[in-house]
Amino acid sequence: MTVPLNIRDFLIWQEYLPKHRQEALVEDLRHILSKAPLFQPTTRHGPMSVRMTAAGRFGWISDQQGYRYSETHPNGTSWPPIPVSILDIWNDLIQCDRMPECCLINWYGEGARMGLHQDKDEADFRYPVLSISLGDDGLFRIGHEAKGGSTASLWLRSGDVVSMGGAARLKHHGVDRLRFGSSALLPKGGRINVTLRVVTAEND
Ligand code: SIN
Ligand code: FE2
Repeated sequence: MTVPLNIRDFLIWQEYLPKHRQEALVEDLRHILSKAPLFQPTTRHGPMSVRMTAAGRFGWISDQQGYRYSETHPNGTSWPPIPVSILDIWNDLIQCDRMPECCLINWYGEGARMGLHQDKDEADFRYPVLSISLGDDGLFRIGHEAKGGSTASLWLRSGDVVSMGGAARLKHHGVDRLRFGSSALLPKGGRINVTLRVVTAEND
């Protein structure tokens, strides 16, 4: 396996997934979307520009009660299982004793972005968040654990995988913009980001 880039403790495997595996993943994701349609979450900052759904025991939802992990889609059904094609990536890159309980699927259309944030709704920060990028290039920005300070940016391309673990686990990160139409993977353009997470504490 290739050695990942290390940018401020974020580990980046560039071009980790060859084209045929990216295409197979998109097929698996389409199947998930047919069971658990994309929806647009709203946070206290207003409606998000990405649309979202999930697979696994938990997804992430947002409503009048705030945002949180949930065992059901807003339409009331459980989330579809995480496809083996995605679990394989976790098993290959992450040395740990647990499997992801949540596979979040974020869909970025033209103009979509994600503000700088921390991922801190999980019970145990010893487990990394693993992120898989598909489709158009996205400008990923990395900050610090505390708010503010200098940031570093890099373009994530289709097939790149990022591990946010260890010292990176609670660092701020976000996506400033897409290069819409830069990839031919998705016929209508756009970017899909898949994140894998362990959500619960060991004994939950
Ligand atoms: C996220 O932080 O949840 C998404 C990151 C990305 O889209 O690359
Ligand atoms: Fe995040």
